[in-house]
Amino acid sequence: MIDILIFIVFFLIIGILGTFALGGVLAAPWVPLWQKDVKRMLKLAQIGPDETVYDLGAGDGRILLIAAKNFGAKAVGFEIAILPYLLGWVKILLSGQRGKAKLYCRNFFKADLSQADVICAFLTPRAMLKLKPKLEKEAKPGCRVISYAFKIPGWEPVLADKPDQKTAAVYVYRR
Ligand SMILES: C[S@@+](CC[C@H](N)C(=O)[O-])C[C@H]1O[C@@H](n2cnc3c(N)ncnc32)[C@H](O)[C@@H]1O
Repeated sequence: MIDILIFIVFFLIIGILGTFALGGVLAAPWVPLWQKDVKRMLKLAQIGPDETVYDLGAGDGRILLIAAKNFGAKAVGFEIAILPYLLGWVKILLSGQRGKAKLYCRNFFKADLSQADVICAFLTPRAMLKLKPKLEKEAKPGCRVISYAFKIPGWEPVLADKPDQKTAAVYVYRR
C-alpha cells in the first residue's frame, strides 16, 4: 500500500514539475509580476467599459484579478503549468470574480485571440518572436498588446513606459 502511495506521489511531482518545464520550453517560466507592474500595464492599456483582457501565460491569475476588480474588465487567461493554474483558480474562486475572470489550463498558442481588446504578455524575446505571426493573424483592429520587458520584433510600440533605470519597460502596441 505504502509502495503504491509513493509511486502515485512520485508521478504527481513529476507531472507538476513537467508542466513547469513545458511552460519554460514553450514560452517562459513562471516569474510572477509585482502588483505595481500589473497595475502599470493595465493602466497603460486604457481599458474601456466591457472590454476583454487576455493574459498569455497567466501564472496565478494576478493580471486577470486586477483587470476584473480594479478595471471592470472581462479577463481571460491561459496557463500551462498546473501549480500556478490551480493557485489562480482558487484565488479567482475566493475573490468572487468568477463571472468576470476565467483561467484556462491550456496552451495559449492554440487559443483563439480574436475576441481580445487587450492582450498582456510577460514572456521572453524568443516567445514574442514566436507569438508575432499569431498576433498578426488573430488580434482584431484596435487591439492593444501590452508586453512587459520585451519588444515584439519588427513592431513599433505606440508607447514605451520606463519610469526609471531600475524598472523594466512596458511596451504598448496597437493593431
Ligand atoms: C513570466 S510568467 C508570467 C506570469 C503572469 N503573467 C504574471 O502576471 O505574473 C510566464 C507564464 O507563462 C506560462 N506559459 C509559458 N508558455 C505557455 C503556453 N504556451 N501556454 C500557456 N502558458 C504558458 C508559464 O508557465 C508561466 O507561468
